[in-house]
Amino acid sequence: MTHVNRPNSNVIQLTPKRQQRINGPVSKGPSDRETRIIAITSGKGGVGKTNIVANLGISMVKLGKKVMILDADMGLGNLDILLGISPKYNLSHVALGEKRFSDIIVEGPGNIRILPAASGIQELSQLSKAQTAHLLSELYRVLDPVDILLIDTAAGISSNVLHFNAISQEIIIVTSPEPTAITDAYAIMKILSLQYGAKSFRLLVNMVNDIQEAHEVYRQLSLVAERFLDIHIEYLGHVFFDRNVVRGVKLQQVVTISNPTTMASRCYESLAAKILETSELSFPLRDAKGFLKHLISNKMDFSQS
Ligand SMILES: Nc1ncnc2c1ncn2[C@@H]1O[C@H](COP(=O)(O)OP(=O)(O)O)[C@@H](O)[C@H]1O
Ligand SMILES: [Mg+2]
Repeated sequence: MTHVNRPNSNVIQLTPKRQQRINGPVSKGPSDRETRIIAITSGKGGVGKTNIVANLGISMVKLGKKVMILDADMGLGNLDILLGISPKYNLSHVALGEKRFSDIIVEGPGNIRILPAASGIQELSQLSKAQTAHLLSELYRVLDPVDILLIDTAAGISSNVLHFNAISQEIIIVTSPEPTAITDAYAIMKILSLQYGAKSFRLLVNMVNDIQEAHEVYRQLSLVAERFLDIHIEYLGHVFFDRNVVRGVKLQQVVTISNPTTMASRCYESLAAKILETSELSFPLRDAKGFLKHLISNKMDFSQS
């Protein structure tokens, strides 16, 4: 039997130039490095957001980043199930003063950290000024070492979903090639642009059979969006339809860990590298501190930011 030399799944192989772009300028100290806050969202459910968030997170860790996932989706088939974790506490325990942020954060596979926030957002708005200030400073500390915060939102246009998108810096819209998913992707970009002033989005087309299919979805969406909405959509990339993703979900295994060489894993890994090399700010003035402030105060009014 011939020995197959499999690539080391713990490290993503990149050219030195790309790795340097990802590493960025040499940090002078903790305070000069900001956490990037990226919401991954969609109009329609079931288009692959949770798998994308988990696999991008794990791939970014392999590229040397500290990654936290904020799980904001209460729906079925959520991040906990995919990652095979069962957090005991969530944001609501923090809001009720029963737990600290550091108590509710859990370690997931591939060294990602998860902040369970599917419930608790409403409770945060009931806090006093002193309690808010206290939570804020605790959250600054928790996020200080984090390079990338990925937010797994629910689908659709509920206020919770819009809130998380509206307080992020970057928004990645996920769609599949299905016409209903494309229409719903348009709908959520419309609301985010008209009601919250989001100016740019990046599009990830999931479950495609070939690259042309992904390009065609982008072409259709950007054509109407740029014509009828005053926004810019950048093509981020695609993930192929891959049965190993489906199999992985059933076995509660994230595909970039269980099967790092399969087609979808390669897509997730190259998308992770691309995101780290580039950014497209949906709200150019937003920063991590602004995000945390809005998260804690649970206010949609951004006039102060
Ligand atoms: N690239 C892919 N190839 C094949 N199936 C996929 C892919 N991405 C997601 N899926 C399937 O779609 C289902 C829904 O994915 P999920 O990440 O839970 O979507 P969402 O979070 O948007 O609701 C998964 O259970 C999986 O079976
Ligand atoms: Mg999901």
